[in-house]
Amino acid sequence: AEADTQQFRPSFHFTPAAHWMNDPNGMVHHRGVWHLFFQYHPHSAVWGPMHWGHATSSDLMHWQEQPIALQPDALGMIFSGSAVVDVGDTAGFARAAGVQTVPLVAVFTHHGERQNPDDVTHEKQSLACSLDDGLTWTPYAGNPVLRNPGALDFRDPKVRWLPDRERWLMVLAVGDHVAFYTSPDLKDWTHESDFGAGQGAHDGVWECPDLFPLQCEGRTHWVLLVSLVEGGPNGGSATQYFVGDFDGHRFTAPPGPTRWLDHGPDNYAGVTWSNAPGGRTVFMGWMSNWTYARQVPTSPWRSAMTLPRELQLRLVEGQWRVASLPAAEVRAAEGPAMAIDPSQPLDAALTDALRLTGGRLALHLHARQADGFVLTLGNEAGDQLRLGFAADEQRFFIDRRQAGQVDFQPAFADRHGVPRVATPSGLDLTIYLDACSVELFADGGLSVLTSLIFPRAPWATMRFEAGDGLALDRLTVHAMPAPERRA
Ligand code: FRU
Repeated sequence: AEADTQQFRPSFHFTPAAHWMNDPNGMVHHRGVWHLFFQYHPHSAVWGPMHWGHATSSDLMHWQEQPIALQPDALGMIFSGSAVVDVGDTAGFARAAGVQTVPLVAVFTHHGERQNPDDVTHEKQSLACSLDDGLTWTPYAGNPVLRNPGALDFRDPKVRWLPDRERWLMVLAVGDHVAFYTSPDLKDWTHESDFGAGQGAHDGVWECPDLFPLQCEGRTHWVLLVSLVEGGPNGGSATQYFVGDFDGHRFTAPPGPTRWLDHGPDNYAGVTWSNAPGGRTVFMGWMSNWTYARQVPTSPWRSAMTLPRELQLRLVEGQWRVASLPAAEVRAAEGPAMAIDPSQPLDAALTDALRLTGGRLALHLHARQADGFVLTLGNEAGDQLRLGFAADEQRFFIDRRQAGQVDFQPAFADRHGVPRVATPSGLDLTIYLDACSVELFADGGLSVLTSLIFPRAPWATMRFEAGDGLALDRLTVHAMPAPERRA
């Protein structure tokens, strides 16, 4: 067996105790509990016959792993999908069982074996139901509920209730586009429309779509997320979005440049929580990239999720932008601001703070006036992680080329950038550093980078260098929660 790489076990990001994980699935909030399901292979640390793993949380930060929710059956593996609270028992699962509980219904892709090279009907949509608030799940005897019309890729259903039409809406990834279906009962689906031909990035197959409304300046707009397996802004897998209108049948978005939710290499296949309280739009992604996901040097688990993020719509210079902000629960988990002793040189104070947090930290920086700056983390192994704002390029960046283990796959060692889209005179930046990741949110979440890092020794020093024009008025470091005890 491979060594246990505890030094890379995240403190405040979800990982399964062991084995392979990819996409977040079926996220649903129900009776005070945030449910997270995930693509899971419980028999090895590489992708294999997919199950739905399960974890629950009351605060989106501390996760309790639960028994596996769904496992492969005669119709195939359990690929990605969503879950809804069927308040009206539209599917009749509670009625059929003669119980009063509100059913949770999972809608997922059954990925079967191809019978021959011409058989492209192996992906179809199915249901499973929970009558015990998400603890145990029973596949529906009438599966599949949506047969494949003959599309090689036909997967990742994301379902939501359309109050105006009193129907369920499903958005599905179909190779180079998404398809919309509606249903009164989650079982009988009608094709409504398609979106995507000639729009957005198409370097790889489209996966894991999500469609949801966001309010901005008193109006409702609809945002479509689409993950793209290849062709992201910093290489490999990434998630693009479209801002447009949805009339209950058809989604339309004006043509324009491709927009990315996160320019970093390590945020893929993310979608939003169903039934989140207060109408919030809470997002979580898989913190990896298909380019090297199978090679990242962790054991006995492989992969973590991003931090939960709240999505908001902004109008910036006449263009719609989706901003990603760390969810309020992330901010609430931060320790108090550590005093940066003004009599001490800044680098010594930052280094002290870094050591006191054990390298699990949040850092907030605000400048009245922007100029370039670089934060450099170092350790005894000679690794260097550099991140900051490059004024000449007007880009935020994370440079992990020398940040530790990088040679497990040729594309991993790289410097990643994201353009600055807001150009106010001031600048804000938030960084979350965990055992094997760094997430950077700038300008109110308009510029975001998420990157994995595998340092060869604990981070021990932190230096800050800035251009003369930077008018810094706040720089604070906060400890993030210590590793959870795992049974
Ligand atoms: C995205 C994806 C989905 C699919 C799942 C299989 O990463 O390829 O399209 O449902 O992973 O594990």
